[in-house]
Amino acid sequence: MTLAEKIGQMTQVEKNSITPEAATQYAIGSVLSGGGGNPTPNTVESWAHMVRGFQEAALQSRLAIPLLYGVDAVHGHNNLIGATIFPHNIGLGATRDPALTERVARITALETIATNAQWSFAPCVAVPQDPRWGRTYEGFGERPDLVSSLGQAAVRGLQNADEQNGLAHPHAVLACAKHFVGDGGTAWGTTRRYPWIKNNWQGPGSRYQIDQGETKVSEETLRSVHLAPYQAAIQAGVRSVMVSFSSWGGLKMHAHHYLVTRVLKGELGFSGFCVSDWMAIDQLDQDYTAAVVKSINAGLDMIMVPFDYRRFIDTLTAAVERGDIPLARIDDAVGRILGVKAELGLFDHPYGDESLQPQVGSEAHRQVARQAVRQSLVLLKNERSLPLARDLPRLLVAGRAADDLGLQCGGWTIEWLGQPGTTTPGTTLLAAIKERVSPETTVVFEPHGHFGAGITAEVGLVVLSEAPYAEGEGDRADLTLPPGDVALIERLRPLCRRLIVILYSGRPLIVTEQLPLADAWVAAWLPGTEGQGIADVLFGDVPFSGRLSFTWPRSMDQIPLGASADAPLFPYGHGLTTR
Ligand code: BGC
Ligand code: BGC
Repeated sequence: MTLAEKIGQMTQVEKNSITPEAATQYAIGSVLSGGGGNPTPNTVESWAHMVRGFQEAALQSRLAIPLLYGVDAVHGHNNLIGATIFPHNIGLGATRDPALTERVARITALETIATNAQWSFAPCVAVPQDPRWGRTYEGFGERPDLVSSLGQAAVRGLQNADEQNGLAHPHAVLACAKHFVGDGGTAWGTTRRYPWIKNNWQGPGSRYQIDQGETKVSEETLRSVHLAPYQAAIQAGVRSVMVSFSSWGGLKMHAHHYLVTRVLKGELGFSGFCVSDWMAIDQLDQDYTAAVVKSINAGLDMIMVPFDYRRFIDTLTAAVERGDIPLARIDDAVGRILGVKAELGLFDHPYGDESLQPQVGSEAHRQVARQAVRQSLVLLKNERSLPLARDLPRLLVAGRAADDLGLQCGGWTIEWLGQPGTTTPGTTLLAAIKERVSPETTVVFEPHGHFGAGITAEVGLVVLSEAPYAEGEGDRADLTLPPGDVALIERLRPLCRRLIVILYSGRPLIVTEQLPLADAWVAAWLPGTEGQGIADVLFGDVPFSGRLSFTWPRSMDQIPLGASADAPLFPYGHGLTTR
C-alpha cells in the first residue's frame, strides 16, 4: 500500500462532502451519514442506492478495498423514513431486559443492512450522571452494571453474535461503543469554546454547557463508572470505539494517549479500531497540523473529518513525511481498520442485502418495538387509576404530544435534532387509544386542553413532552416542568375525576409540585413509533413493569445525581406494577 492509500483508509468523510469519484481517487476508507444525512427522497431504495454508489466507487480504487458506510442507528435505523423506531436507550434501560435489547439491536442491524450500510455508531455506553446533559437519553442508565449488560446485548445484536458466522455474516453490522471515555461524567459549565471553529454549536452563544465538557473525577471513578462498560463491550466482541469530545485531567480525549492507547488498546486489549468524533480533532489545536499529529499519535485510527478531507489528507501526509507521526503508527491504524473490514467479511460481500428491504418497518419488527415500549414505561405513581377500563363513556386527552410522532420519537429521528410532526410512519398514542376503547367511548382530544364548557369525564389524560433535541443542544440548566405544561395539568384537573399524566422526556424532569395533582404518572421516555405499546399497558393488556434507570430528583439541588443525600423523589429502580 502506498502512504496515500493508507491515509485514505484512515479518512472518514460525510457523504455530502464527497463524490463517489473522489472516494475512488483517494481510496477513502469510510463514508458516513451524520444525523439527518439523508438522501433525497428519503426512502429505503435511495438509501441503498446511495450507499451502493459509494461502495462501487471504493471497489474501483487500485486495491479495491471496500469502504465502511457508517450511520447513527441509535434507536432503529433512525434517519430513514419508514424504519422501525425503538425507544431510546434510557427506555431500554428501564426494561432491564438484555434479551429484548439484543432483539432490538438485531432488528436495527437488519434494517440498516437493507440500505447497504454496515456500521452503526452504537451503542452509546455513556453512564450519565447529570440529567441536564442533552445526551442523557442515549445512555441506558446511571449505573455501570446496567449500562454494561445492556451495552453488551446491543453489541451482540448488531454484530449478530448469536448466529452462525457472527460478525462475518452478511447480516451483521459493526457496532461502535461510544464515547470513550467519561462522556457521561462531565461537569456543568465546563464545555470549552473554540473561536477558530466556525459552526453554531461551539461558537459563542452556543447552548452547549456540559456536553463535550470536562470529566472531573478521580481515575478510580473514571475506571469503575465510565470505563467498565467498555471492558464489557470488548468482551462482547465490539470492534470499533468512538472517542469522546470530552476531556479528563484537562486533556481532550482525542489527544489522550494514556487512555486511548495505554488503557483501551493496551490494558483492555482492544484490537479493533478507534474512530474520532465529528470534527473533534479540530478542537485540539488552532493549528490543524498540531491537531492531526496529536490525535493520531494518541491512538486514533480513523478520523471523522467530516468535511474538508483534502486538508486532512494533505496534513496527515506531510506530518508522516516529516516524521511527526511514525509510519509504524500509520501501519498499526490501517492494520486495525483492514482487520475489522476482513472480520466483517466486507471483502467477500461488500454490499449489504437489499433483499431485506421489505422487512424495513415491517409488522414483525414493529411488534418488537411495541414490546420494548410496553416494558420501558415506568409507573411512578398510581392511586387506583390504572389500568383503564375500555368502556369509559368519555376520555379527555390533552397535550399536543398525544398525537405527534416526532415528539414521541425525540432527537436522532429523521433529523439530527428530531422534529415535531409526522416525520415518519408510526402510531401515536392518541391513535392507539382510539383503536383500543370500546365503540361507545368518545375520545375528546384538545392539544391545549380547552375543552368546551361543561365537558368533564371520569378520566383525563395529559400527555407532555420535551421539545426534541440532540447532544449539547439539549443541555438545560433548569429541568423544571415548563409553565405551559403545568397550566395544562391544572386546566385538566377539575375536568376529570382521575387525572393521568404521561411524560415523554429524555431524562427525569422536576415534577415534584405537579405530582400531587395527578392520580397516576407515567414516565414514558422517548418511546418511538409504536404508540400501541403505551395503550397496551394503560388498558391493562400487560402490566407495567419498567423500573427507573435513573434516580428521579426532587429538586434541581439534587443534580448532579448523588450531589445530595436527601431522599430523591423516586429512587433508582422505582416502578410500580399493575395487574
Ligand atoms: C456525535 C456522535 C455521532 C457523530 C456522527 C457526533 O456529533 O457525538 O455520537 O456518532 O456525531 O453523527
Ligand atoms: C450532524 C450530526 C453531528 C452534529 C455535530 C450535525 O450537523 O448532522 O451528525 O453529530 O452536527 O454534533
